[in-house]
Amino acid sequence: MSSQNNLIINKSKPLIGNLKIPGDKSISHRSIILGALSDGELTISNFLSSDDCNATINAMRELGADITIIDDQVHIKGKGLFSLKKPKQIIDAGNSGTLIRLLTGVLAAQDFDSVITGDDTLKKRPMGRIIKPLILCGANIEASEYKAPLSICGTPSLNPIEYNQDVASAQVKSCLILSALHISGQSSFYEEIQTRDHTENLLEHFGYEIYRDGNSFSLKGRQKLIAKDILIGSDISSAAFFIVASLIVNGSCIEIRSVNINKFRTGLITVLRKMGADIEITDVKEVSNELIGNIKARHSKLRCIEIKGEVIPSLIDELPILFIACAAASGTSKISGIEELRYKESDRIMAMENGLREIGIVVHSSKDSIEITGGKITGGKISSYDDHRIAMSFAIAGLISQHSLTIMNTQNISTSFPSFVTLLRELGVEVFEV
Ligand code: S3P
Repeated sequence: MSSQNNLIINKSKPLIGNLKIPGDKSISHRSIILGALSDGELTISNFLSSDDCNATINAMRELGADITIIDDQVHIKGKGLFSLKKPKQIIDAGNSGTLIRLLTGVLAAQDFDSVITGDDTLKKRPMGRIIKPLILCGANIEASEYKAPLSICGTPSLNPIEYNQDVASAQVKSCLILSALHISGQSSFYEEIQTRDHTENLLEHFGYEIYRDGNSFSLKGRQKLIAKDILIGSDISSAAFFIVASLIVNGSCIEIRSVNINKFRTGLITVLRKMGADIEITDVKEVSNELIGNIKARHSKLRCIEIKGEVIPSLIDELPILFIACAAASGTSKISGIEELRYKESDRIMAMENGLREIGIVVHSSKDSIEITGGKITGGKISSYDDHRIAMSFAIAGLISQHSLTIMNTQNISTSFPSFVTLLRELGVEVFEV
């Protein structure tokens, strides 16, 4: 292990200030893929320059896209829906589940073959959820045990898609939407539980017609995507760490500006408010067919909560930091229906359970649930399991820990939030890298 990958965090003074959090990860991926498939030139502002999203830029360049980066702006010369070229090498999705799943939807409908893979973590994650529905509409994909690497034999004449949600996953839905764009005829989609609709919103931003009706929508393939500039709001999944930090550290008040508050992403705010959190959202406006607003969170006395069901997909990436809020709340919280958490960058139920127990919190889990009893966080040494959100969640726990908290192997934070430590330090937190 190289040095500088472990973080030591000490108990913090009140956190006070305004923060600018980097752009939304989900929208950053989508803006590159759809931008390259559009007709015309566009500029993406507040793009998230992180390992995951940079992997998407590299992948699309490998497929012939014309993408230039100047400071935090990305310029794309879109060449149209069927403009991609056969890659010269295997496409590397790195650590990114969003990239491999979304891009496979595009690659399945091309007139060339390709292979896409990723790092050791990504190679363990389930891909059957995209491979099976793609095969049903005529795609030709080979993968051992439904895991990466995926060998895709491009099929330009796929049949229209009839999607009936099996797992509540925006990645699966978006993979199939991206295929449907290339398929002549009407594809239809039904979600029992609605998930983030950034792909649909961005398509509409590019003038692509989608017929939405409650939990269903349909679209006709092979329409034109008309290039248009995109301004990306800050990522609520990254803001979440500072929102919870402000709630649990005595005397804190943090405001975070221009955060994307898409209604399928704000489950954490709803749940924290039910726990007694003082959170205000102001200056709500629409940008690039998405809602953004300023979020202010003040230190609050939190109570335990029980959640399950529809709210889960709307805070799926925020569950680890919600568990830290539960550890700082009074009483025993129960969060159920979260088996999906076992298939993320790590088995996040296992990683959080082990870490919380290590720092003195009483916690029990089942295959799809966790119970956390609020208490004193003692400190100690925990593993990040090479997972960015586990590392950042425990860094926030360190702010209220009696003794210092050491988090091992935190280099993965750069997959989604490279400026995380810098922002903590700007708020006056003592962070040591060893
Ligand atoms: C994402 C959807 C979610 C989320 C991931 C990003 C997306 O995954 O966990 O970090 O951009 O569509 P699932 O759709 O698999 O739940």
